[in-house]
Amino acid sequence: MIIAIPRETVPGERRVALVAESVKRLVGRKHEVVVESGAGLGAECSDEELRAAGARIEPDAAAVYSAADVVLKVQPPGPEELALLKPGSVLASLAYPLAQPGLARALADRKVTLLALDMVPRTTLAQMMDVLSSQATIAGYRAVLLAAEALPKLFPMLMTAAGTIPPAKVLVLGAGVAGLQAIATARRLGAVVEAYDVRKVVKEQVESLGARFVNIDIEDAAGSGGYAKDLSAEAKKKQAEALAVHVAKSDAVITTAQIPGRRAPVLLPADMVRRMKSGSVVVDIAAEQGGNCELTRPGERYRTDTGVTVIGEKNLPSQLAVHASAMFSRNLEKLLAHVTDKDGALKLDASDEIVRGMLITRGGDVVHPAVADVALKEAS
Ligand code: NAI
Repeated sequence: MIIAIPRETVPGERRVALVAESVKRLVGRKHEVVVESGAGLGAECSDEELRAAGARIEPDAAAVYSAADVVLKVQPPGPEELALLKPGSVLASLAYPLAQPGLARALADRKVTLLALDMVPRTTLAQMMDVLSSQATIAGYRAVLLAAEALPKLFPMLMTAAGTIPPAKVLVLGAGVAGLQAIATARRLGAVVEAYDVRKVVKEQVESLGARFVNIDIEDAAGSGGYAKDLSAEAKKKQAEALAVHVAKSDAVITTAQIPGRRAPVLLPADMVRRMKSGSVVVDIAAEQGGNCELTRPGERYRTDTGVTVIGEKNLPSQLAVHASAMFSRNLEKLLAHVTDKDGALKLDASDEIVRGMLITRGGDVVHPAVADVALKEAS
């Protein structure tokens, strides 16, 4: 199989889909890996290193796409990349097909098979291929470092000859993969951490990391596949009232709450942020999905008129591109191993739960029922 790695073209994207270590293993399994020159540079992976691992380096994207049986990418393809994808080839990348069914339709029209990495089932078997989890882990860690850097206070408690410094108070909203890593990172830095999630099942995990779970007496919102459901209007009101008290006393609030295929829920309305102390920090990991904080400006960091720094930087994993790419690459290796037979030939068996979840287009059609449904609604 010829596996192609083009250079990412989204501005600010530093990650690469495969790192040298994975290239070496895939070449060892008799695959051919073709990489666009400079594709790994943002992740400190040079052409020389990739070549030494067995990759063939091509000077431009056209040469890479035209050689490909399978294209591995991080970001969804833009219009120019779409035009380069070869009919009959397979693309594995993030694609957000439920939010952007138009891309799925365009790929189907081009007879490209799409495996959407963000549609991986959240099951034990699929965990090794789950880029959502690996990248959320990095985002959770990075968010806390951003908060610690922007806060004009220390995170740990210090007892010194110059006095005792109390620990910073951190509140994490949403205790999924990113939230749990944020809790762990803030605890490692010595902060006192509270966390809240609508899924009460995470209480034990939060407590096992040394944080306090904020109990709010509303309906449990655990939905299918481990994801959260949207809350009723009454529950949202009760939640906001209870959270306001915890937000007001926090030095840093990290928000991570998302609902698949929907705009992120607003957990921090403007008036709640206004009640935070001057100098406090909000880091909104959900900025790309519209943000959990009403005052978030996606892609920006600014100080509000009441002195709260609101950080809505996008694509936090890209800021730690070396390890983000290493983990992404390992996820893709596992995915390739799952969808190839012992001779290395691609076998997309739609009766397999993982393939069924991620297979969006094939043979000119949108084959994923939920995506086909959304695409149809969008077209009508
Ligand atoms: P996510 O990124 O979709 O959401 C982050 C967190 O925000 C979730 O814990 C969610 O419950 C919470 N949330 C949503 N709305 C909220 C609200 N209004 N207020 C407060 N919190 C809210 O979640 P993520 O991290 O992708 O994980 C989703 C689920 O998948 C979890 O149950 C996780 O344990 C599970 N999972 C399972 C895996 C596996 O078994 N392979 C791998 C990764 C995740």
